[in-house]
Amino acid sequence: MSLPFTAPLAAHEHAAYADAAAMVAALRPEQPVYCIRPHVLREAARHFVETFPGKVLYAVKCNAEPAFLDALHDGGIRHFDTASLPEISVVAERFADTASYFMHPVKQRGGIRAAYRQHGVRHFVVDHADELAKVLAETGGATDLVIVVRLATARGAAVYDLGGKFGASPVQAAALLRQAHGAGCEVGLSFHVGSQCLTPGSYTAALRLAAHTLDLAEVPLSVIDVGGGFPVAYVGLHPPPLEDYVAAIEAGLAGMGLPAECELWCEPGRALVAAGASLVVRVELRRANFLYINDGVYGSLSDLKYAGLRFPMRVLRPVGDRVEVLEEDLGEFGLFGPTCDAADMMEGPYRLAADVREGDYIEIGQAGAYTLELRTDFNGFCPTASWRSATVPSCRRPGWSRSRSHS
Ligand SMILES: Cc1ncc(COP(=O)(O)O)c(C=O)c1O
Repeated sequence: MSLPFTAPLAAHEHAAYADAAAMVAALRPEQPVYCIRPHVLREAARHFVETFPGKVLYAVKCNAEPAFLDALHDGGIRHFDTASLPEISVVAERFADTASYFMHPVKQRGGIRAAYRQHGVRHFVVDHADELAKVLAETGGATDLVIVVRLATARGAAVYDLGGKFGASPVQAAALLRQAHGAGCEVGLSFHVGSQCLTPGSYTAALRLAAHTLDLAEVPLSVIDVGGGFPVAYVGLHPPPLEDYVAAIEAGLAGMGLPAECELWCEPGRALVAAGASLVVRVELRRANFLYINDGVYGSLSDLKYAGLRFPMRVLRPVGDRVEVLEEDLGEFGLFGPTCDAADMMEGPYRLAADVREGDYIEIGQAGAYTLELRTDFNGFCPTASWRSATVPSCRRPGWSRSRSHS
């Protein structure tokens, strides 16, 4: 069965094709092309909203492109974890029935003022007393605020540790909670167990730390926010289903004795958008078992290098007017990105048709998260202002075609 997809095009061109192969047949693109699958995004959003027993805030930083935001909104997302004023503005311009939450622990003063006054943002994260003072000052000592204190959590089994940069200890967090409560604000607690967290128990452990913090603070809690980190499948990585994470979170909450009116939130990014796009890149040169391709570490593919994630891939080969999909007789390859920097290299190994050659395309799956959003203009490749996309309603996604099942 072939499902439709949408792929993004240059500056910014966009068109619809039946699938990635049809897009390659029509365009023979010189630039990387995003093939966006709105139905996959809608379904991921719907599943998360139906499964998580609280508010689901989409972490906009993961992918702020309108096609993604619209599909998530269609799937039921109404709350957005925003980290900056531009992210708040993108959401506000697009939707009339949503709320944004300012979840970055370090904010610019002007951003706080505009978020509060122009966009009606009332929820702000802090992890330091000076940041709390800043929020109170820039909102004119407002008492209609919810101050959410971010706790630092221990490094668990997450691919990306987010604990080193942000987060307060339980003692510091308890002091912040008391201070914010004393200033007339409602208060909440949040944490982030790290991105692509492979063990549901990390959430239970973080909630134990939250319970301890609350014992120290002795203030009524309005919000408990378990953050993001919910994982997706990559080659060789098959994390437990979302239901297991929800069970672990409920186990953690059971020990907290929270009042019934305390809201539960989460802030997923990757889990909502990774599967919603593939990226089609072109092979510019083959040198033994290394392929030089037209996207890389300074474009959309830094997760391949820095997180060592192996995204599912398959070769699309133009043959006359047709495009063949090659998924058998595989060999192992490393990839070089297009820039002159030697660091622009993704070791892999990635399994691709053994006879892959210059002029072939590679469709890279699970490419909706932390990809497009991280592009740079470095060396003139993957320019941020000119990129291509296509909607592909039809999709047999790379890596999902045979015995392996990824979601
Ligand atoms: C505060 C915060 N919330 C949510 C997220 C989304 O995380 P993930 O994509 O792992 O779900 C991030 C990612 O960096 C984050 O920093």
